[in-house]
Amino acid sequence: MSAPLLVRALRGEPVQRPPVWFMRQAGRSLPEYRSLRHGRSLLQLARIPELTAEATMQPVRRHGVDAAILFSDIVVPLAGVGIELEIRPGVGPVIAAPIRTAADVRRLRPLCPEEDLPEVGEAVGLLCAELDVPLIGFAGGPFTLASYLIEGGPSKTQAATKAMMLGQPALFGELLGRLAGIAAASLHAQVKAGAAAVQVFESWIGFLSRAQYERHVAGPTRALCQELARLGVPRILFGVGTGHLLEAMAETGPDALGLDWRTSITHARERLGPGIALQGNLDPAALLAPWPAIEREARAVLSDAPATGYVFNLGHGVLPDTPPEIPGRLVELVHEQALDAIT
Ligand code: CP3
Repeated sequence: MSAPLLVRALRGEPVQRPPVWFMRQAGRSLPEYRSLRHGRSLLQLARIPELTAEATMQPVRRHGVDAAILFSDIVVPLAGVGIELEIRPGVGPVIAAPIRTAADVRRLRPLCPEEDLPEVGEAVGLLCAELDVPLIGFAGGPFTLASYLIEGGPSKTQAATKAMMLGQPALFGELLGRLAGIAAASLHAQVKAGAAAVQVFESWIGFLSRAQYERHVAGPTRALCQELARLGVPRILFGVGTGHLLEAMAETGPDALGLDWRTSITHARERLGPGIALQGNLDPAALLAPWPAIEREARAVLSDAPATGYVFNLGHGVLPDTPPEIPGRLVELVHEQALDAIT
């Protein structure tokens, strides 16, 4: 049996058409998700394997995407190691006691998925038995997780995070090392249970200059990529606003880079060469425009994309106000355009 389309595309092997999936395809844009979530917090939902599996499958059924992504959140493993946190609707993750001192950092213990988060492995097992598309496992990148832990919640400036990074680089490095270890353990468990590819969401990395990235974040990211290489599945590294970081991110060793809408795929391919696959990058806001505009934007992305080593996606997650029928229409468009190209 040949590997799934997504896996072949991420490995840069020849494919008849690009696979398509959407970051944040599960969740608030779907009415069936809102009923499933009713009366429960996201963190509760993510710890009940049957419900996690259902939330993961909803977008696969509705949109016909070529891959599922595990329903969870990047902060779930942090809750697993005992960090007190909540995900506040309309806000994001909020940490009860932000990490600021060396003692705080040293209290952050390693994740033991079998004991701390047995439900995740169970959910992945249930999904792999039912899905006929590959399942993508995911984790937060070390910088993005550190940012939530240090800031105590979402931040528009990352000021406290940068202050620790620049003022206490050794402590910051230790924190990132511990977080990379937590991400690796979580992804290891997801792949062991059946995930066919992994994505590291390093969403807020675009806040750093290239020199800052290279000095403070590339090392722990490279260590994470090397650790994940042993899992034998393709590894995608994604960040927002990373046009100035692409070479530095590629040098950390992932199989694919996820691009946001600001960077053209052709330009990224010219800079990075064909040795790394690319994923992206339709502006998620386009999905709120009338269909002819969406179609035009999606065709522009497809015509910018290489024939191999490419996965169609958005440049960031599906926005909550996206009409629920639109992602499915987009999937059809990507699938049809490929047929047009062949016939
Ligand atoms: O992609 C998927 O469909 C899988 C599920 C998924 C969620 N979060 C569920 C979720 C994934 C992959 C994530 C990743 C995640 N979480 C990231 C990286 C991706 C990105 O968008 O950059 C980040 C930064 C977080 C942290 C987080 N969690 C934020 C910023 C929010 C939004 C807060 C808000 O209400 O505006 C969350 C909450 C969250 N995670 C929701 C979902 C479906 C929505 C709220 C809910 O149902 O309670």
